[in-house]
Amino acid sequence: MSQVPDVSILTTIAQRVAQVQLRHFERLDQAAIESKGRHRDLLTIADSESERVIIDTVRERYPSHAILAEESGAHLTDSDTWWIIDPVDGTTNFARGFPFFAASVACWHKGQPVLALVEAPRLGERFIAERGSGATVNGRRLRVSDTTEISRSILATGFSYQRNEVQRNNVDNFSRLVLKCHDIRRPGAASLDLAYVAAGRFDGYWEPYLKPWDVAAGCLLVTEAGGRVSDFKGGQDWLFGENAAASNGHIHDELLADLSETEQGYQPWGRQFEQRLRGM
Ligand code: IPD
Ligand code: CA
Ligand code: CA
Repeated sequence: MSQVPDVSILTTIAQRVAQVQLRHFERLDQAAIESKGRHRDLLTIADSESERVIIDTVRERYPSHAILAEESGAHLTDSDTWWIIDPVDGTTNFARGFPFFAASVACWHKGQPVLALVEAPRLGERFIAERGSGATVNGRRLRVSDTTEISRSILATGFSYQRNEVQRNNVDNFSRLVLKCHDIRRPGAASLDLAYVAAGRFDGYWEPYLKPWDVAAGCLLVTEAGGRVSDFKGGQDWLFGENAAASNGHIHDELLADLSETEQGYQPWGRQFEQRLRGM
Protein backbone atom coordinates (compact mmCIF):
# COMPACT_ATOMS: atom_id res chain seq x y z
CA MET A 1 0.00 0.00 0.00
CA SER A 2 1.45 3.35 -1.00
CA GLN A 3 1.28 6.60 0.97
CA VAL A 4 -0.31 9.82 -0.26
CA PRO A 5 2.53 11.69 -2.02
CA ASP A 6 3.87 14.92 -0.60
CA VAL A 7 2.35 18.08 -2.10
CA SER A 8 5.84 19.52 -2.72
CA ILE A 9 6.20 17.34 -5.82
CA LEU A 10 3.60 19.57 -7.55
CA THR A 11 5.91 22.58 -7.41
CA THR A 12 8.76 20.59 -8.96
CA ILE A 13 6.46 19.33 -11.73
CA ALA A 14 5.07 22.84 -12.30
CA GLN A 15 8.49 24.46 -12.65
CA ARG A 16 9.78 21.83 -15.05
CA VAL A 17 6.68 21.69 -17.27
CA ALA A 18 6.41 25.49 -17.38
CA GLN A 19 9.93 25.69 -18.75
CA VAL A 20 9.09 23.23 -21.54
CA GLN A 21 5.87 25.02 -22.50
CA LEU A 22 7.30 28.52 -22.46
CA ARG A 23 10.22 27.35 -24.61
CA HIS A 24 7.78 26.24 -27.34
CA PHE A 25 4.96 28.77 -27.01
CA GLU A 26 4.72 31.02 -30.09
CA ARG A 27 7.73 29.20 -31.57
CA LEU A 28 6.03 26.09 -32.93
CA ASP A 29 6.76 24.92 -36.41
CA GLN A 30 3.19 25.03 -37.81
CA ALA A 31 4.05 22.28 -40.30
CA ALA A 32 5.00 19.95 -37.43
CA ILE A 33 1.57 20.20 -35.73
CA GLU A 34 -0.09 16.83 -36.21
CA SER A 35 -3.73 15.78 -36.12
CA LYS A 36 -4.64 12.83 -33.88
CA GLY A 37 -7.23 11.16 -36.12
CA ARG A 38 -9.99 13.74 -35.77
CA HIS A 39 -8.94 16.88 -37.59
CA ARG A 40 -9.65 19.12 -34.60
CA ASP A 41 -7.54 17.06 -32.16
CA LEU A 42 -3.97 18.40 -32.43
CA LEU A 43 -0.61 17.17 -31.19
CA THR A 44 2.49 19.34 -30.87
CA ILE A 45 6.02 18.78 -29.62
CA ALA A 46 4.97 20.66 -26.46
CA ASP A 47 2.42 17.92 -25.66
CA SER A 48 4.96 15.10 -25.91
CA GLU A 49 7.79 16.93 -24.13
CA SER A 50 5.49 18.16 -21.34
CA GLU A 51 4.17 14.65 -20.77
CA ARG A 52 7.71 13.24 -20.68
CA VAL A 53 8.90 15.72 -18.06
CA ILE A 54 5.82 15.20 -15.86
CA ILE A 55 6.09 11.40 -15.98
CA ASP A 56 9.85 11.46 -15.36
CA THR A 57 9.36 13.69 -12.30
CA VAL A 58 6.64 11.43 -10.87
CA ARG A 59 8.76 8.33 -11.50
CA GLU A 60 11.88 9.83 -9.89
CA ARG A 61 10.02 9.96 -6.59
CA TYR A 62 7.30 7.35 -6.96
CA PRO A 63 8.43 4.68 -9.41
CA SER A 64 5.72 2.20 -8.42
CA HIS A 65 2.70 4.50 -8.89
CA ALA A 66 0.28 3.96 -11.78
CA ILE A 67 -0.04 6.64 -14.46
CA LEU A 68 -2.80 7.53 -16.91
CA ALA A 69 -1.58 10.15 -19.37
CA GLU A 70 -3.27 11.57 -22.46
CA GLU A 71 -0.53 11.03 -25.01
CA SER A 72 1.09 7.79 -23.83
CA GLY A 73 -1.96 6.12 -22.26
CA ALA A 74 -1.98 3.91 -19.19
CA HIS A 75 1.16 2.77 -17.42
CA LEU A 76 -0.56 0.47 -14.96
CA THR A 77 1.02 -1.04 -11.86
CA ASP A 78 -0.70 -2.63 -8.85
CA SER A 79 -0.34 0.60 -6.85
CA ASP A 80 -3.46 2.20 -5.35
CA THR A 81 -2.04 5.64 -6.22
CA TRP A 82 -2.68 7.01 -9.71
CA TRP A 83 -1.37 10.06 -11.52
CA ILE A 84 -3.76 11.40 -14.16
CA ILE A 85 -2.03 13.74 -16.58
CA ASP A 86 -3.02 16.14 -19.35
CA PRO A 87 0.35 17.53 -20.45
CA VAL A 88 -1.12 20.48 -22.41
CA ASP A 89 -4.79 21.13 -21.83
CA GLY A 90 -5.81 23.63 -24.48
CA THR A 91 -3.54 22.43 -27.30
CA THR A 92 -5.54 24.34 -29.93
CA ASN A 93 -4.95 27.55 -27.97
CA PHE A 94 -1.28 26.68 -27.56
CA ALA A 95 -0.90 26.07 -31.28
CA ARG A 96 -2.49 29.46 -32.10
CA GLY A 97 -0.52 31.50 -29.57
CA PHE A 98 -3.56 32.00 -27.31
CA PRO A 99 -2.27 31.92 -23.71
CA PHE A 100 -5.16 29.97 -22.12
CA PHE A 101 -3.53 26.55 -21.72
CA ALA A 102 -2.22 24.54 -18.80
CA ALA A 103 -0.60 21.35 -17.65
CA SER A 104 -3.07 19.39 -15.54
CA VAL A 105 -1.76 16.81 -13.06
CA ALA A 106 -3.85 14.99 -10.47
CA CYS A 107 -2.95 12.35 -7.95
CA TRP A 108 -5.71 9.94 -6.92
CA HIS A 109 -5.31 7.64 -3.92
CA LYS A 110 -7.69 4.76 -3.25
CA GLY A 111 -10.23 6.15 -5.69
CA GLN A 112 -10.20 9.73 -4.34
CA PRO A 113 -8.47 12.85 -5.66
CA VAL A 114 -5.79 13.92 -3.17
CA LEU A 115 -3.54 16.37 -5.04
CA ALA A 116 -4.14 18.67 -8.00
CA LEU A 117 -1.99 20.97 -10.08
CA VAL A 118 -3.16 23.20 -12.93
CA GLU A 119 -0.10 25.09 -14.14
CA ALA A 120 -0.82 27.92 -16.59
CA PRO A 121 2.65 29.32 -17.29
CA ARG A 122 1.71 31.99 -19.83
CA LEU A 123 -0.97 33.34 -17.50
CA GLY A 124 1.51 33.21 -14.62
CA GLU A 125 -0.90 31.17 -12.50
CA ARG A 126 -0.25 28.00 -10.55
CA PHE A 127 -3.36 26.38 -9.09
CA ILE A 128 -2.80 23.75 -6.39
CA ALA A 129 -5.20 21.76 -4.23
CA GLU A 130 -4.59 19.25 -1.50
CA ARG A 131 -7.50 17.19 -0.21
CA GLY A 132 -8.72 18.61 3.10
CA SER A 133 -6.32 21.58 2.99
CA GLY A 134 -7.96 23.85 0.42
CA ALA A 135 -6.99 25.23 -2.96
CA THR A 136 -4.68 28.11 -3.87
CA VAL A 137 -3.50 30.16 -6.84
CA ASN A 138 0.09 31.35 -6.50
CA GLY A 139 -0.28 30.68 -2.78
CA ARG A 140 -3.53 32.71 -2.35
CA ARG A 141 -6.52 30.85 -0.99
CA LEU A 142 -9.32 30.17 -3.53
CA ARG A 143 -13.01 30.51 -2.81
CA VAL A 144 -15.93 29.95 -5.21
CA SER A 145 -18.31 32.83 -5.97
CA ASP A 146 -21.49 33.51 -4.03
CA THR A 147 -23.81 34.07 -7.00
CA THR A 148 -27.11 32.40 -6.28
CA GLU A 149 -28.98 32.54 -9.60
CA ILE A 150 -28.22 31.37 -13.12
CA SER A 151 -29.55 34.69 -14.45
CA ARG A 152 -26.60 36.49 -12.80
CA SER A 153 -24.03 33.77 -13.56
CA ILE A 154 -21.02 33.71 -15.87
CA LEU A 155 -20.73 30.12 -17.09
CA ALA A 156 -18.14 28.30 -19.17
CA THR A 157 -18.37 25.26 -21.38
CA GLY A 158 -16.65 23.45 -24.25
CA PHE A 159 -17.43 21.35 -27.31
CA SER A 160 -15.79 17.99 -27.86
CA TYR A 161 -13.70 17.09 -30.90
CA GLN A 162 -16.32 14.33 -31.42
CA ARG A 163 -19.07 16.90 -31.89
CA ASN A 164 -19.92 15.80 -35.44
CA GLU A 165 -20.18 12.13 -34.48
CA VAL A 166 -22.37 12.36 -31.38
CA GLN A 167 -26.07 13.16 -31.03
CA ARG A 168 -25.73 15.31 -27.91
CA ASN A 169 -23.11 17.76 -29.09
CA ASN A 170 -23.78 20.37 -26.35
CA VAL A 171 -25.23 22.92 -28.76
CA ASP A 172 -28.67 22.28 -27.21
CA ASN A 173 -27.37 22.93 -23.68
CA PHE A 174 -25.58 26.04 -24.87
CA SER A 175 -28.63 27.48 -26.59
CA ARG A 176 -30.82 26.98 -23.53
CA LEU A 177 -28.33 28.39 -21.04
CA VAL A 178 -27.08 31.34 -23.06
CA LEU A 179 -30.59 32.77 -22.99
CA LYS A 180 -30.87 32.39 -19.22
CA CYS A 181 -27.49 33.31 -17.76
CA HIS A 182 -25.51 36.56 -17.67
CA ASP A 183 -23.06 35.15 -20.24
CA ILE A 184 -21.05 32.11 -21.36
CA ARG A 185 -17.34 31.74 -22.12
CA ARG A 186 -15.63 29.00 -24.18
CA PRO A 187 -11.97 29.58 -23.38
CA GLY A 188 -10.74 26.15 -24.53
CA ALA A 189 -9.02 24.37 -21.62
CA ALA A 190 -11.23 22.32 -19.30
CA SER A 191 -8.76 22.17 -16.41
CA LEU A 192 -8.47 25.97 -16.36
CA ASP A 193 -12.24 26.44 -16.75
CA LEU A 194 -12.55 24.40 -13.54
CA ALA A 195 -9.75 26.38 -11.87
CA TYR A 196 -11.66 29.57 -12.76
CA VAL A 197 -14.78 28.17 -11.06
CA ALA A 198 -12.63 27.49 -7.99
CA ALA A 199 -11.38 31.10 -8.17
CA GLY A 200 -14.91 32.52 -8.37
CA ARG A 201 -14.27 33.95 -11.87
CA PHE A 202 -16.89 31.62 -13.32
CA ASP A 203 -19.96 30.60 -11.34
CA GLY A 204 -20.35 27.30 -13.17
CA TYR A 205 -18.98 25.08 -15.92
CA TRP A 206 -20.17 22.00 -17.73
CA GLU A 207 -18.97 19.89 -20.62
CA PRO A 208 -19.87 16.49 -22.08
CA TYR A 209 -17.39 13.93 -23.46
CA LEU A 210 -14.48 15.03 -21.29
CA LYS A 211 -11.71 12.52 -20.63
CA PRO A 212 -10.38 11.71 -17.13
CA TRP A 213 -7.25 13.87 -17.65
CA ASP A 214 -9.38 16.94 -18.49
CA VAL A 215 -11.17 16.92 -15.13
CA ALA A 216 -9.10 14.87 -12.63
CA ALA A 217 -7.21 17.89 -11.21
CA GLY A 218 -9.64 20.78 -11.80
CA CYS A 219 -12.49 19.11 -9.96
CA LEU A 220 -10.45 18.87 -6.74
CA LEU A 221 -9.69 22.60 -7.03
CA VAL A 222 -13.44 23.27 -7.16
CA THR A 223 -14.42 21.11 -4.19
CA GLU A 224 -11.49 22.37 -2.10
CA ALA A 225 -12.58 25.94 -2.88
CA GLY A 226 -16.04 25.15 -1.49
CA GLY A 227 -17.83 24.31 -4.76
CA ARG A 228 -19.73 21.31 -6.04
CA VAL A 229 -18.84 18.82 -8.79
CA SER A 230 -21.15 16.20 -10.27
CA ASP A 231 -22.11 14.41 -13.44
CA PHE A 232 -25.10 15.80 -15.35
CA LYS A 233 -27.54 13.74 -13.22
CA GLY A 234 -26.12 15.03 -9.94
CA GLY A 235 -24.16 11.83 -9.23
CA GLN A 236 -20.42 11.30 -8.90
CA ASP A 237 -19.70 9.59 -12.23
CA TRP A 238 -17.72 12.53 -13.62
CA LEU A 239 -14.17 11.15 -13.82
CA PHE A 240 -14.87 8.30 -16.22
CA GLY A 241 -18.46 9.09 -17.21
CA GLU A 242 -17.66 11.95 -19.62
CA ASN A 243 -20.20 14.40 -18.18
CA ALA A 244 -18.86 16.96 -15.73
CA ALA A 245 -20.59 19.93 -14.15
CA ALA A 246 -18.97 22.17 -11.56
CA SER A 247 -20.24 25.25 -9.80
CA ASN A 248 -20.17 27.37 -6.68
CA GLY A 249 -22.83 25.01 -5.30
CA HIS A 250 -25.63 27.60 -5.15
CA ILE A 251 -26.52 27.41 -8.85
CA HIS A 252 -25.76 23.71 -9.28
CA ASP A 253 -29.28 22.27 -9.38
CA GLU A 254 -30.48 25.07 -11.67
CA LEU A 255 -27.54 24.35 -14.00
CA LEU A 256 -28.18 20.58 -14.07
CA ALA A 257 -31.84 21.14 -14.90
CA ASP A 258 -30.76 22.45 -18.32
CA LEU A 259 -28.21 19.78 -19.24
CA SER A 260 -29.05 16.84 -21.50
CA GLU A 261 -27.16 13.65 -20.85
CA THR A 262 -25.01 11.99 -23.50
CA GLU A 263 -26.91 9.50 -25.63
CA GLN A 264 -28.17 6.15 -24.30
CA GLY A 265 -25.70 3.34 -24.79
CA TYR A 266 -22.71 5.67 -25.27
CA GLN A 267 -19.59 3.97 -23.86
CA PRO A 268 -17.15 6.42 -22.29
CA TRP A 269 -13.57 5.65 -23.27
CA GLY A 270 -12.24 5.81 -19.69
CA ARG A 271 -14.55 3.09 -18.34
CA GLN A 272 -11.87 0.47 -18.95
CA PHE A 273 -9.77 2.00 -16.15
CA GLU A 274 -12.55 2.68 -13.69
CA GLN A 275 -12.80 -0.78 -12.16
CA ARG A 276 -9.09 -0.87 -11.56
CA LEU A 277 -9.04 2.53 -9.87
CA ARG A 278 -12.16 2.05 -7.76
CA GLY A 279 -11.43 -1.56 -6.91
CA MET A 280 -8.18 -0.75 -5.16
C1 IPD B 1 -9.55 19.95 -24.74
C2 IPD B 1 -9.82 21.22 -23.96
C3 IPD B 1 -11.11 21.86 -24.42
C4 IPD B 1 -12.28 20.91 -24.33
C5 IPD B 1 -11.99 19.63 -25.09
C6 IPD B 1 -10.69 19.00 -24.57
P1 IPD B 1 -6.97 19.25 -25.15
O1 IPD B 1 -8.36 19.33 -24.29
O2 IPD B 1 -9.89 20.96 -22.57
O3 IPD B 1 -11.45 22.99 -23.66
O4 IPD B 1 -13.41 21.52 -24.85
O5 IPD B 1 -13.07 18.77 -24.87
O6 IPD B 1 -10.43 17.81 -25.27
O7 IPD B 1 -7.23 18.40 -26.32
O8 IPD B 1 -6.60 20.63 -25.50
O9 IPD B 1 -6.06 18.62 -24.15
CA1 CA C 1 -7.52 18.18 -22.37
CA1 CA D 1 -4.08 17.65 -23.94
